[in-house]
Amino acid sequence: MKETVIVLDFGGQYNQLIARRVREYNVYCEILPYTVPLERIKEIAPKGIIFTGGPNSVYDPASPHYTPEIFTLGIPILGICYGCQLMAHALGGSVISATDRSVSEYGKTETAYQTDCTLFESLPARGISWMSHRDYINEVPDGFTVTATTAHCPVAAMANEEKKLYGVQFHPEVNHTEHGSDMLRHFLYRVCGCKGEWRMDDFIDATVAQIREQVGDKGVVLGLSGGVDSSVAAALLSKAIGRQLTCVFVDQGLMRKDEGDYVEQTFTKLFDMNFVRINCQEEFLSKLRGVSDPEEKRRIIGTEFYNVFWNKIRDSYGSGFFAQGTIYPDRIESGKGDAAKIKTHHNQVGVPADIRFEGVIEPLKDLFKDEVRAVGEKLGLPHELVWRQPFPGPGLGVRVIGEITAERVKTLQEADAILRDEMEKCGYAKELSQFFVVLPGVKTVGVMGDARTYDELVAIRAVTTDDFMTADWAKIPYEILGRLSNRIINEVEHVNRVVYDITSKPPGTVEWE
Ligand code: XMP
Repeated sequence: MKETVIVLDFGGQYNQLIARRVREYNVYCEILPYTVPLERIKEIAPKGIIFTGGPNSVYDPASPHYTPEIFTLGIPILGICYGCQLMAHALGGSVISATDRSVSEYGKTETAYQTDCTLFESLPARGISWMSHRDYINEVPDGFTVTATTAHCPVAAMANEEKKLYGVQFHPEVNHTEHGSDMLRHFLYRVCGCKGEWRMDDFIDATVAQIREQVGDKGVVLGLSGGVDSSVAAALLSKAIGRQLTCVFVDQGLMRKDEGDYVEQTFTKLFDMNFVRINCQEEFLSKLRGVSDPEEKRRIIGTEFYNVFWNKIRDSYGSGFFAQGTIYPDRIESGKGDAAKIKTHHNQVGVPADIRFEGVIEPLKDLFKDEVRAVGEKLGLPHELVWRQPFPGPGLGVRVIGEITAERVKTLQEADAILRDEMEKCGYAKELSQFFVVLPGVKTVGVMGDARTYDELVAIRAVTTDDFMTADWAKIPYEILGRLSNRIINEVEHVNRVVYDITSKPPGTVEWE
């Protein structure tokens, strides 16, 4: 059975981060909501369980709880923040609310550790930990000892070594906690006895074998967008079944300059597969004629995309298997309920009822994005494709503000290509999470040579971010901005002014539409 650790999600904001940290230590990890039946956990027979944090108070009966039977299975458990309080509460300790604000702690906190506790063994006896709590444990359950304290928190960590139950009030998974990842490693290797069997090479071999077994001599069709996830899925499927794979690439003419050709060349040259490209810019533009409402544009582009795609599949490939590049974060069921579904862009699509495949293959469904990239690199995908910036599904359609015409798309593509070229040349691209040009549809007066001009304005958007939920506008040096402005105005027809977007998210969004 695959060595697995379960992250039991009580609605904490760091649940995915915890799981990624565990996997960084080569231990396969799954996030399950706190509503998962105990029977399911017993079936998985995990080497260990980690309770996440959460926004609630354990003594509130409406807050997420779990059957105390979980503590009797003999499986090591590490409770983090709310998870630690839950453990204390369930096993007879006491958790109280810090009405006095001096006891609640937020942020970096000086912490003293008992280094004879397995979690803290061979680590410094004092260090900074990252705290975020209002409630605190003031009495540990029978059989537990206090293993860390802070100036305000009597129980910053607790342990019952005999039963392999551990709790930490702070967040070892965030970088601000000094040696936090060592503490997690100790839990995985010293407490749970993990061996570290989760390796990307093994994942590739096992997945290739599994795909071959499932598919037999049938065909598989995959919708390829040129984005990271579908590209890595294509590479993996190609390795498994070669020309039994058909990739359908819908080029709606709203990609960046030359991008459609780049995708085609990459896949036809580097991989064994059938590659079908559908060029349909004209069709898309005719549907978009006269439309300038952002939501309506998105709707038309989305609907048209699936029409073109499924019509092609229906005509030529409507049997065998359907593959898609779903990744793990697309399908994690959160412990927070619907409120947690902040992410609206995802990879899973529904197959129309009249197309009957024998099954759906999602070879990346258990991987986090960084693991998907690692697999892509191992399979020989070009570095720039694997590390591609996010690109919206509706493509440049949401960057050409107002009505989309072939000419305006071309203007935007040219300006955007200069931005990319300059950023790569000066090496600043790696400082940025995402950058692109927007064509707002504003005309302004200018002067070129001796003549008056009345032409388009373009805006440069560049952001830094960890997760795209929030983002800072990038502080690009003036010198680079100056070069960009010169080149764009000199080289791109119909552009006579360049502005730089200095709005963070929130209140702005990354895209303009
Ligand atoms: P916003 O504009 O919402 O963008 O701050 C956050 C990130 O999501 C990307 N984005 C999209 N990705 N389909 C996608 O797959 C979309 O419709 C879409 N809209 C925005 C955006 O580029 C940024 O990285």
